[in-house]
Amino acid sequence: MRSIAAAVAVASVLLAVAGGSVVTNRDDEHVLHVVAAALGPAGRSLNWDNCTRPCQDWEGVSCNANGSVVGISARGAGFNGTLLEDAHYLRELHHLDLRDNDITGPLPDVPFLNLKTLHLDCNAFTAVPAGLSAEREAASPTSTRSKPTTPPITGTLSAFLRNGTAYANLVHVSLARNRLTGPVPATFVSKKLEHLDLSDNLLTGTIDFVINFPNIKILRLDGNSFAGQLPDFQRLKKLEILLLGQNQLTGLVPPSLMQLPNLAAVTLADNLFQGPLPEFGPWVHNDVVLLLSVAAGFEFPASLAASWKGNSPCAGWMGVHCDKTGATITGINLCRHGLNGTIHPAIGGLRSLRAVLLSGNNLGGAVPATISRLADLLLLDVSDNQINGSIPRLPRGAVVWADQGNTAVALSSPPASLPTATIFFVLATFCYSLS
Ligand SMILES: *[C@@H]1O[C@H](CO)[C@@H](O)[C@H](O)[C@H]1NC(C)=O
Ligand SMILES: *[C@@H]1O[C@H](CO)[C@@H](O)[C@H](O)[C@H]1NC(C)=O
Ligand SMILES: *[C@@H]1O[C@H](CO)[C@@H](O)[C@H](O)[C@H]1NC(C)=O
Ligand SMILES: *[C@@H]1O[C@H](CO)[C@@H](O)[C@H](O)[C@H]1NC(C)=O
Ligand SMILES: *[C@@H]1O[C@H](CO)[C@@H](O)[C@H](O)[C@H]1NC(C)=O
Ligand SMILES: *[C@@H]1O[C@H](CO)[C@@H](O)[C@H](O)[C@H]1NC(C)=O
Repeated sequence: MRSIAAAVAVASVLLAVAGGSVVTNRDDEHVLHVVAAALGPAGRSLNWDNCTRPCQDWEGVSCNANGSVVGISARGAGFNGTLLEDAHYLRELHHLDLRDNDITGPLPDVPFLNLKTLHLDCNAFTAVPAGLSAEREAASPTSTRSKPTTPPITGTLSAFLRNGTAYANLVHVSLARNRLTGPVPATFVSKKLEHLDLSDNLLTGTIDFVINFPNIKILRLDGNSFAGQLPDFQRLKKLEILLLGQNQLTGLVPPSLMQLPNLAAVTLADNLFQGPLPEFGPWVHNDVVLLLSVAAGFEFPASLAASWKGNSPCAGWMGVHCDKTGATITGINLCRHGLNGTIHPAIGGLRSLRAVLLSGNNLGGAVPATISRLADLLLLDVSDNQINGSIPRLPRGAVVWADQGNTAVALSSPPASLPTATIFFVLATFCYSLS
């Protein structure tokens, strides 16, 4: 079924993006060889070798029984080339994760029909998707793209995030920490989108586009230059987390925001809002906001998303331990949970914490300075991660385990041995295995 239409499409795309596209046949493995070559030489570290077969030999590439590429995970591989539009010939691609590389140039401006998760955070994408012609925009995936054009550089996200039909299956999109500019167009529509993270870019314009995501749960737009008034959030009944801090948003915060039934965490700080900031109901507990920020630092792993729900962390949130009153959070125990990301500074706001146990994960970055605010802290265990930097000064009596298994941690004092009382507390409270 790799049809004539497909071949014509290839030919016309070759014309359309002269020099940008070199695919000559659409066998997935061939496409991936071409895409990998453009991504840069770093693929060698993942065995992405020209002479081997991606489905069999390449690390981070997964394929289905038909030999179609369904997943690419090459986080932090060191790629410093470009992401070719040809990648969209990988028709069965569900999962694309190229986080933490140094990929430059425009985002690919083509429909990825089956993509469900897209992680391109922490790269050097410059926005400016090449801006496809209206003809190509309207073209269905199997129809001929017959009018190649030399597209103008638009400087916006408009082409990439255009009209959700091109990305009809996206559930999770993260483009955080790039250098994306321009407004997000009102034509970015997605019925399935649940998690959108555009934080820490250079995006402008209003955030009116958010009402196009009826199923959105987590929306991060913080750290941009979005301006204008907030839209009416009424339709976003599933919204749980809304981070809008560090923008230039103006006007009143609409009452509909406070009435959203599932809203658990909101940040509005560092904007230009007028009038009183809304009083969020008692259901937006501060501890909930802080814990969800911590979860955001861990990149909202599915396991936490499933368990950290509602407004009562002490009522069974995985890894959250509370005192006998059931109202005070005394410990976080998420050892060996495969967590990625970093330790969010919000953890320092959970003032009653006595133990923070995060060993055996995949956490990077430094231990945030806010940890020193935890006056009751007895044990901080971040061993066996990729933590770096120096460990902040801890409260008196607290012990840190950090030197083991982390390559680049600087301890301010030699690791102390754990007082018996602490060991007892930790064992009794967290059933923690010391093996
Ligand atoms: C690998 O293959 C690609 C595409 O066929 C080509 O552009 C590239 O130069 C090749 N790289 C090496 C090291 O042979
Ligand atoms: C890309 O990275 C490779 C090493 O993986 C390096 O040799 C090359 O100079 C880099 N290219 C650019 C444009 O930075
Ligand atoms: C493989 O291709 C056949 C025929 O196109 C299709 O019916 C089947 O679902 C495909 N299998 C997978 C795992 O995608
Ligand atoms: C997407 O664009 C197509 C063609 O331009 C249009 O027919 C369709 O209604 C649009 N869909 C949405 C959800 O806006
Ligand atoms: C951490 O990242 C890896 C690789 O991308 C992924 O397989 C794993 O599921 C992530 N862990 C969590 C808890 O989401
Ligand atoms: C620590 O690691 C992060 C990435 O995880 C990196 O950006 C940062 O530069 C590193 N800092 C130090 C001091 O090595």
